[in-house]
Amino acid sequence: MDVFHIEGPVRLSGSVRINGSKNASLPVMAATILAGGKSVLSAVPHLSDISVCSELLVELGCEVSREQNGDLCIDSSVIDNPVGDYEIVRRMRASICILGPLLARCGRAEVSMPGGCAIGYRPIDIHIRGLRELGAEIHIKNGYIIAEARNGLRGREIFMGGPFGSTVLGTANVLMAATLAKGKTIIESAACEPEIADLANCLNKMGAKITGIGSPRLVIEGVRQLNPVEFKVIPDRIEAGTFMVAAAITAGQLHLNNCQLDDMMAVVDKLRGIGITIEPDGDGCVVAGDGRLKPADITTQPYPGFPTDLQAQFMALLSLAEGNSIIIEKIFPDRFMHVAELSRMAANLRKEGPTIIVAGVKKLMAAPVMASDLRASAALVLAGLAAEGTTTINRVYHIDRGYEKIEERLNPVGAKIVRESV
Ligand code: EPZ
Repeated sequence: MDVFHIEGPVRLSGSVRINGSKNASLPVMAATILAGGKSVLSAVPHLSDISVCSELLVELGCEVSREQNGDLCIDSSVIDNPVGDYEIVRRMRASICILGPLLARCGRAEVSMPGGCAIGYRPIDIHIRGLRELGAEIHIKNGYIIAEARNGLRGREIFMGGPFGSTVLGTANVLMAATLAKGKTIIESAACEPEIADLANCLNKMGAKITGIGSPRLVIEGVRQLNPVEFKVIPDRIEAGTFMVAAAITAGQLHLNNCQLDDMMAVVDKLRGIGITIEPDGDGCVVAGDGRLKPADITTQPYPGFPTDLQAQFMALLSLAEGNSIIIEKIFPDRFMHVAELSRMAANLRKEGPTIIVAGVKKLMAAPVMASDLRASAALVLAGLAAEGTTTINRVYHIDRGYEKIEERLNPVGAKIVRESV
């Protein structure tokens, strides 16, 4: 298991290129199941979650390889084992998004129920409800979701809202299944996240007929078959947001290339309110801070609201603001594993249910801390850049799930991060 030693405080300065989006790549990889033949995906990042997804596709019968230019080739001509094994699904919850495409392609699927998760209880009832509405028979046996649609799927009007709003991967699952269903499907209260729009654009390129992309009402005219595709995934808005906070928390200046500000309005708005300058530039932007941070109130919401995947990183930032901030988590009310760790670094945080009151402090102090989930770990890296002394982060494999060699990208712009294998 690797450990990070981060020496701080530092001031970051320079350029960073934002990679392709992990959370767009995973459903797009699953979408290749829908068509026989070889698809070529570009800008898919080199991350452990992507490797797990590749492993999953290979188990189903696909051939998966990386070209020298980095493109990911998926040949899904043969799918002879429509089973998402527990050993793989337990390593990555997003594996669930093979359920819809397998069902549509093979007429049946067995996928392990995802288990517990560091960010809290994450049911999949809406995925199952949506697929049942399309005519699938679904039951749970020995920890597996057994789904069958012997006579194919039928288009329907489906409402997909839940207690916390829309569901990203639930929308992906039902959307993918509906592309091959007979007749018209309407998904109401669909997730509007850019990653879902990217998936829909990819599916249309494969021959699907989807309208309403980017809106909460997706209309899908079922087609008989889809074709393999060449597709480039969008830049990672969560990675971009994390690097923006890195510039802000170090009073630095970063030029972020390959960054779509249009997908990040809520984040950019908050950062500007905190006192950070963000100017569009080329295919990205320049982000700069002067060390003075104003407090902010943040509520996480489905897109286009403020993303839960940047909540932890903003908590690290607001720990150093001049005054009190409030952070309310409305997507995953228990997503607060980073609170205790940031407190070990002298952040002043008080938890009241799904709300954290952040009383700004003048300095963060280095400490040994534990990475728990992906974004919580990113928050610890950011805190480590600003804290005085050497912060040691254990279990950095959590960071590697979503940030490609983060130390090799931060060190050239002024960070002092050493990875040690222990
Ligand atoms: C996606 O997870 C992302 N994962 C998560 O990113 C992200 O935090 C989340 O969306 C919210 O934006 C991927 O894209 C791979 P949801 P997903 O279904 O789709 C409730 C990261 O760090 N819900 O949109 O699984 C659920 O409990 C990861 O990169 C139901 O009640 O999340 C939550 O409160 C972590 N029933 C809310 O909906 C369901 O059937 C939104 O969850 C499904 C969800």
